Amino acid sequence: MDIQKLLSEMTLQEKLGQLTQLNAIFFKHDNTADITGPTSRLGIEESDALYSGSTLNFIGAKDMKEIQDIAMAAQPHKIPLLFMQDVIHGYRTIYPIPLGMGCTFDEELVEECARMAGKEAAVSGVHVTFSPMLDLVRDARWGRVMESTGEDPHLNGRLGAAFVRGYQGNHLQGKYDIAACVKHFAAYGAPEAGRDYNAVELSEHTLRETYLPGYRACIDAGVEMIMPSFNTVGGVPSTCNRLLLDRILRGEWAFDGIVISDYNAYREMIRHGVAENEKHAAELAINAGCDVEMMSATTYLYAQELLAEGKLTMAQIDRAVLRVLDLKNRLGLFENPYRAASEQEEAELHLCPAHRALVRRAAEEASVLLKNEGVLPFSQKAKKVAVIGPFAKEKGIKGFWSCAGRDEDCVTVLSGVRALLPDAEVATVKGCSWAVDETAVPDLDEAIELASEADAVVLCLGEYQEHTGEGNSRATLNLSPAQMALARAVIKHNKNTAAVIFGGRPLVLTDLAEIVPAMLYVWQPGTEGGNAVARLLFGKANPSGKLSMTFPRAVGQCPIYYSRMHTGRPVKDPKVVTQSGYCSRYLDMPVAPLYPFGYGLSYNTYTYDNFTVSDDKITPDAPLEVAVTVKNEGAYEGKEIVQLYIRDKFASVARPVLELKDFAKIELAPGESAAVIFTLTEEDLRFHTADGTFASERGEFEIFVGPDSERLMSTTVYLEK
Ligand code: BGC
Repeated sequence: MDIQKLLSEMTLQEKLGQLTQLNAIFFKHDNTADITGPTSRLGIEESDALYSGSTLNFIGAKDMKEIQDIAMAAQPHKIPLLFMQDVIHGYRTIYPIPLGMGCTFDEELVEECARMAGKEAAVSGVHVTFSPMLDLVRDARWGRVMESTGEDPHLNGRLGAAFVRGYQGNHLQGKYDIAACVKHFAAYGAPEAGRDYNAVELSEHTLRETYLPGYRACIDAGVEMIMPSFNTVGGVPSTCNRLLLDRILRGEWAFDGIVISDYNAYREMIRHGVAENEKHAAELAINAGCDVEMMSATTYLYAQELLAEGKLTMAQIDRAVLRVLDLKNRLGLFENPYRAASEQEEAELHLCPAHRALVRRAAEEASVLLKNEGVLPFSQKAKKVAVIGPFAKEKGIKGFWSCAGRDEDCVTVLSGVRALLPDAEVATVKGCSWAVDETAVPDLDEAIELASEADAVVLCLGEYQEHTGEGNSRATLNLSPAQMALARAVIKHNKNTAAVIFGGRPLVLTDLAEIVPAMLYVWQPGTEGGNAVARLLFGKANPSGKLSMTFPRAVGQCPIYYSRMHTGRPVKDPKVVTQSGYCSRYLDMPVAPLYPFGYGLSYNTYTYDNFTVSDDKITPDAPLEVAVTVKNEGAYEGKEIVQLYIRDKFASVARPVLELKDFAKIELAPGESAAVIFTLTEEDLRFHTADGTFASERGEFEIFVGPDSERLMSTTVYLEK
C-alpha cells in the first residue's frame, strides 16, 4: 500500500480518527445502550467512533472479524483497524506473572513464552500487545510490581529485549508475529509511598542511570511502540513530558515508532492541574511527542481548532498518522485485515499440550525456594499428604492481567499433587480464607487433624491475584493473622511441612520464616501452577529461581533494593540491630532484607571455585575475562544462576554498592562442574558522570561473582584509559 498517497487523500477527520483508540464496545451496532454512555462521556457521536484507527479490549477472532468489518465499512478509505490488547503473561495459556519470569533469569525461556503468547494472541486477532512493562520496581507496596521483571536495570533490560524478540519475531513478517509496546515511560514504578498513580520524584541523574535503561533496551531491540505513564515525573505528567518524550525518546534515542498514551491519560492531565481543558490536553500531549490517544477523543475533537490557531501543525498530524498507517502496512492489514485471526486455530492452539508444557516449565523455573531445612523434596512414596490452606483448591492463581486466561483453566495445587501421586491419599482443607482481613477467624480443627495424620503437609498460603496489579497497592505486606494462626497450628502438629506461597509481590514473611521448615515462593504461577508446584515439592523438578526483587523484613524497609547507594554512616553489620546511634540504622530491626536480590535455593548445593580474572587491568581495548568454576555437589540435576557484579570504588558521583553486570544460567548433572566465563568491557563500567556525560572513569573496580547479591567472591581491577 502506498501510504503517502493514502494520506494525501484522507480528510482531516479521517486522520484524527487514526490517532484515536477506543474500546471495542464502541464498534458494536448491537450494543447501543453501552455505546451511548461512554460515547457521550467522550463527547463524540457514534458515527465518530467508527473513524478511530485502533481498538482494545475485544474478545477473540470472531469478535475481531466482526469489528473489523463494521469499522472498515464505515471508513471512507476502508482503512483496517489495529487491534491491541494487554497480553502480559500469556493470552489464554498463562505463564507466571512477569515478576516471576524475572526470577528465571532466562532470556530464552522468556522469549519462548512471549512467542507462545503472541501466537495465541495473533490467532485471536491481536496485532499489538501492551507489553513488556519495563518499570523498575523497588517498593513492594505498589500493586503493579507483578508486571515488571524486577528491581534491576540490567536484568530488566535483558529480559525486556527477550520479550520484544519473542513477540515481534521476524520483524512482524511472520504470520504470528505481533508488535510490542514497551511501557510505562517513565519511572511509573517509583510512585511515592508505593501508591499507584502517585507522583514520581527522581533526579534526572537517577532517572537516566537507573530507570531509563530498561525501556532503552527494548528500543534497541526494535520495539514498535511505547506508552508514557500516568504519573508526573518531576511535576510534569509523562503524557506531556518534553524531557522524556521529546528530548530523550524522540531526540537522543531517535525513536520513530508510535507513542500511545495510557488509558484516558490525556484527560487526566486536567486532574493533574497541568492541562486547563481537553483542548489544552491535546495540544500539550501532541507537542510533547504523543501520536495516539487511548480512550479519550481530545485530538479528534480539538485538533482542527488547534491547527487553525497555529498551536499544532499539519506536519505533526501527518507524521503521527503515517506512523500508524506504516505499522498497519507492515503488518499486512491492507491486504489481509483479519491477518492471523482464525477461530479454528484458536481451538487448536489455545491451551494445547505444547503450550501447557511450556508454561508449566516456566512456573517451575520462576519459583524460588526461600528456605529448606531438609524437608524438601518430599518423598514420592508419601502415602498420606495433606494440602492445607486458602490456596489449596484455589483456581485464581493465574495472576492479574491474564487477558483471555480463565481461572477455570488453572490446575490447583490439590489437583497437581493428586495427579502426581495417584496412589497416595491426598486430603485437603482450607482452614481460612485469603482475605486481607485482620479480624477473620481461622477454622483450625480439621486442619490440625489432617496435618497430624499426614506424611507430608503442603501449606498453601499467600496473596490473592486480585490483591495485586493495577490500582491494588498495599500498606501492609504481612500474611493475615488468620493465615499465620493456621500456619502455627499446622506446623506444631507436623514438622514435615512446606509452605507454598502465592503472591504478586514480595510479601513480608519474617514471622513465617521463623517457624516453617520450608518455603517455596511460586508467585501467581499461571495455568499449570498446581502441576509445577507438585513436581517441585516432590522432587520431579528442582527449584532454580532467584529473586529479582528484594524481600523486606517489614513494610517499613520499603523501598529496599540491593543496588543501594553508600551512606557515610553505615551500620557495622546490616543483619543485626545496631545499638550505637548516629548511623544509618533502624532501632527496631536490622537494615538487611529478609532475602536479598539474586537469592534462591536448590535441592543441590553448588560450590564456587577458581575465581579468576584475566588481568588486573582493564582498558577500552582489552576487556576482562572473569571466570569461575561451579560444581553441583548434590544428587539432582539442577540449574544455577551465576551472577557477576561490580563496584566502582571511587568516582565523580557516588556509585551503588553493587551493580549486576552479567549472569549465566547453567545446567549441571550431579557431581558435574562447569567453568563460567564472563566478559567485562570498559562499556560495562560507564555511568552518568558529574559533568553529565555517559562515560567510564579510570580507577579501581571491585569485581564480584557468586550465587546471589550477598554471598560473593571479589577481586579488584584497575581501569586504565
Ligand atoms: C494500564 C496500561 C494498559 C492500559 C490498556 C491502563 O490502565 O495502565 O498498562 O496497557 O490500561 O488496558
